[in-house]
Amino acid sequence: MSSVIIVGAQWGDEGKGKITDLLARDADMVVRYQGGNNAGHTVVVGSDTFKLHLIPSGILYADKQCIIGNGVVIDPEVLLAELDSLRARGISVDNLRISERAHVIMPYHRVLDQLEEASREAKIGTTGRGIGPCYVDKVARTGIRIGELVEPELLKSRLQEILPAKNRLLRGVYQHEGFALEHILNTCLPLAERLKPLVGDTTALVNQAVAQGAKIIFEGAQGTLLDIDHGTYPFVTSSSASSGGAAIGAGVPVTKLNNVLGVAKAYCTRVGEGPFPTELKDALGERIRERGREFGTTTGRPRRCGWLDAVALKYSTEVNGLTGLALTLLDVLDGFETVKICVGYKYKGKVLERMPAQAHVLGECIPVYRELPGWPEGSTRQASCFDDLPVQAQDYIKFIEDFTGVPIVLVSVGPARNQTFQRAPIL
Ligand code: IMP
Repeated sequence: MSSVIIVGAQWGDEGKGKITDLLARDADMVVRYQGGNNAGHTVVVGSDTFKLHLIPSGILYADKQCIIGNGVVIDPEVLLAELDSLRARGISVDNLRISERAHVIMPYHRVLDQLEEASREAKIGTTGRGIGPCYVDKVARTGIRIGELVEPELLKSRLQEILPAKNRLLRGVYQHEGFALEHILNTCLPLAERLKPLVGDTTALVNQAVAQGAKIIFEGAQGTLLDIDHGTYPFVTSSSASSGGAAIGAGVPVTKLNNVLGVAKAYCTRVGEGPFPTELKDALGERIRERGREFGTTTGRPRRCGWLDAVALKYSTEVNGLTGLALTLLDVLDGFETVKICVGYKYKGKVLERMPAQAHVLGECIPVYRELPGWPEGSTRQASCFDDLPVQAQDYIKFIEDFTGVPIVLVSVGPARNQTFQRAPIL
């Protein structure tokens, strides 16, 4: 078997959807392994743009088996809307299967996410989609799994067990009116009935595919620096967005996983709160935002923009065991006189070469930059191989490879499928 885990190497929004879509051409199966509809994956096919939140990007090929794994949290309403919109555009969703072990984002999770965020003094800037509260319930063993959602009697008895405590929290702490059991059942059961034919034991499907030597893509969401363990805690999402999450979130043994492709932008962005040493709060940042169309796919929020943080990228390389990097949005740096890369952090008079674990320390770090010549006259947009790039862009790529010790095996220079070139086999 040949597999590749596609993982965000920064703070999410690196263009993983596009890369997954490209590699899916050669794959048999695409498995999404964590996160929920906090993610937004944009894929451009010809003149069509698809914005996917839960369904793996492989769905755009009719013959690929697509799996939503156990590690994903699913808002049934959002998933059905996504299915309907794909069907309406002539895309078959017959090859999609959903893990019965995946957890369900319930109406009270969405409400709690928003109420908790509003009451937080130090905001995280969550997407408000109920992701955190759903994962909290999973770990607290008070969650509802898709396999229970689609069994009306089971759902009712689980809710009878869980709902009183949720209502005590909602009413007692947040003065919210709470949720009536009947209301939740009336909302959820029709949705569950529509999802039921797609629900099954995806762990078996994935492991069968592994045994048959299938080519499998494990598609991550968000990014390593938003990982619940390895990210800039507490300014993180609530799932394992790094490569280790693939084994857990798809139910495949670690011994069966080999390649890990980290997707990184040629610069950095971050949505929501949290430390971001290379952030540019000036006209340069604005220029990157405009050129990169850096507005969230899910929430529409303007993304914070800054120079590439190679220290963070090196950390990401280590945590994920990256075997290759895909560098995206290189074209956004076209036209700059010089480009900067963060190669260290200045903290209290010392230079740190590693990314610190504590968010407050990272928040006080001043980037140490290496300034490289840009390519003010050149354009990367038409490049179909490395040698087509302006020489300064080639040097930029080589610098990142040398610094991180990981080869850049794929380069993306625009949103279209053909604005990408691969430098080495991936799958
Ligand atoms: P949550 O995942 O909605 O709980 O949000 C937690 C943090 O992760 C916030 O800062 C969000 O902006 C960020 N986040 C969640 N999903 C994504 C994503 O897909 N791309 C970028 N940032 C994300």
